Amino acid sequence: MLSDRSAATVRATLPAVGAAIENITARFYDGLFAAHPELLRDLFNRGNQAAGTQRRALAGSIAAFAAHLVDRPDERPDAMLARIAHKHASLGIAPAQYETVHRHLFAAIAEVLGDAVTPAVAAAWDEVYWLMANALVAIEARLYAERGITAGPDALRAWEVVERIEETADVATFRLRPADGTPPPAFRAGQYVSVQVELADGARQIRQYSLSGLPGADLRQISVKRVRGGAGPDGEVSAHLHAHARVGDLLRVSAPYGDLVLDERVLDDRTPAPLLLASAGIGVTPMVAMLEQLAATGHRGPVTVVHADRSPADHALRAEHRAYAAALPDADVHFWYERPEPGHPADRTGRVDLAALPVAPGTHAYLCGPLPFMKGVRAQLLAQGVAPAAVHYEVFGPDLWLASPSSSGPVGEATMSSTVTGSRAA
Ligand SMILES: Cc1cc2nc3c(=O)[nH]c(=O)nc-3n(C[C@H](O)[C@H](O)[C@H](O)COP(=O)(O)OP(=O)(O)OC[C@H]3O[C@@H](n4cnc5c(N)ncnc54)[C@H](O)[C@@H]3O)c2cc1C
Ligand code: HEM
Repeated sequence: MLSDRSAATVRATLPAVGAAIENITARFYDGLFAAHPELLRDLFNRGNQAAGTQRRALAGSIAAFAAHLVDRPDERPDAMLARIAHKHASLGIAPAQYETVHRHLFAAIAEVLGDAVTPAVAAAWDEVYWLMANALVAIEARLYAERGITAGPDALRAWEVVERIEETADVATFRLRPADGTPPPAFRAGQYVSVQVELADGARQIRQYSLSGLPGADLRQISVKRVRGGAGPDGEVSAHLHAHARVGDLLRVSAPYGDLVLDERVLDDRTPAPLLLASAGIGVTPMVAMLEQLAATGHRGPVTVVHADRSPADHALRAEHRAYAAALPDADVHFWYERPEPGHPADRTGRVDLAALPVAPGTHAYLCGPLPFMKGVRAQLLAQGVAPAAVHYEVFGPDLWLASPSSSGPVGEATMSSTVTGSRAA
């Protein structure tokens, strides 16, 4: 809860902070990375920094949190906090680092807003920052404790590549197990791990990859799409894994994290809610994990599987996608391809069109793919009567809706989960 005095000051200064957020963000990161170059080399995603995609997320989410505090003081935006805390914990972020970020963020605010930052304004925003930071630290402490992990570099451990499978021209699966011989930690379908690799220039960059494989099995797998450069360079970590990761190699891998997991109402044994899983491109990975787990547990509820890809040959995990769905007693599968191939008569051509499919009342939908795909599918689902809170999604990159100070994104729809996927996923 923000004190009344700070709430009035924050409300009055939110428009100025919102308008200056790009400048504040730029100064903040410049200052942070000048003082701590190791953070850009070994912790932050330097591709996102160079492309500018993550830059707005951190400061933007504080402005969004502030807007939430003044508009709805009795509610905590738990969905937003959980999303960030899971990402942070997968990176091993430690409480002391919040002091470092605070120092550089407030120096940037003072520099950009100048005299407008009176002692009262600084104190009010300080209160916002520490309310948010302390909430994140508390959730992250719980996530670490649940996994028996301490914050910091030990949050990622050595895992060995025990098998590598070429799925498509651009997607490879890596089967992994902890190098110290301990069983892999349990995970829930839809969760991801952070994976750190040492690149040619010595930087140790980290990216997230969705897990598949059964939670009780002694191996985990990730399926990685090689990101080919278009306007920018080739993706650093995905290209490195494709070019260099071989059987016997070690990768540094975090415990599993992520809040895109199946709702209890879907998993309910007696009256399972209808489920719709819609993916595009490499967004297939969490969906296959969910289907595998549902098939293994004898799930009996109605499941609709929707996937969009360039062609059957580009559709990673296509055989598993179909086979796990076929193992369910009440599942319907619809694959859409831009370029269909002969020999797949059941497939559809063109873009996903849910108007052609019955969407049962009470459906919970899980989406993963490029943002335009997810926005399109979400609009089609809402038009068919699916509740906004029952649409959960994952973005394979920084979730910029989360960072939006407006209430039109997930912040305003607190029950909507989002994990955003890179726009090159399909
Ligand atoms: C929760 C989650 C789950 C995920 N699951 C999966 C998964 O199962 N499988 C999977 O393949 N991916 C997954 N991802 C995505 C993955 O984490 C990486 O984002 C992806 O592999 C790309 O990383 P990269 O290092 O190869 O590319 P990066 O080096 O991070 O580059 C990303 C993009 O930024 C561009 N870029 C880089 N530098 C510049 C520059 N200077 N100027 C302009 N543009 C630039 C690149 O051209 C590229 O298009 C997931 C992401 C999240 C958040
Ligand atoms: C109150 C303080 C903080 C806030 C509000 C915040 C907010 C965020 C947000 C919104 C994201 C993006 C989440 C997503 O992927 O969707 C993020 C990611 C991240 N945060 Fe924080 N953060 C805070 C503190 C910190 C600290 C102290 C560190 C460590 C120095 C840190 C390091 C990171 C890193 C490395 C990422 C991933 C970036 C990337 O992949 O490019 N954050 N944070």
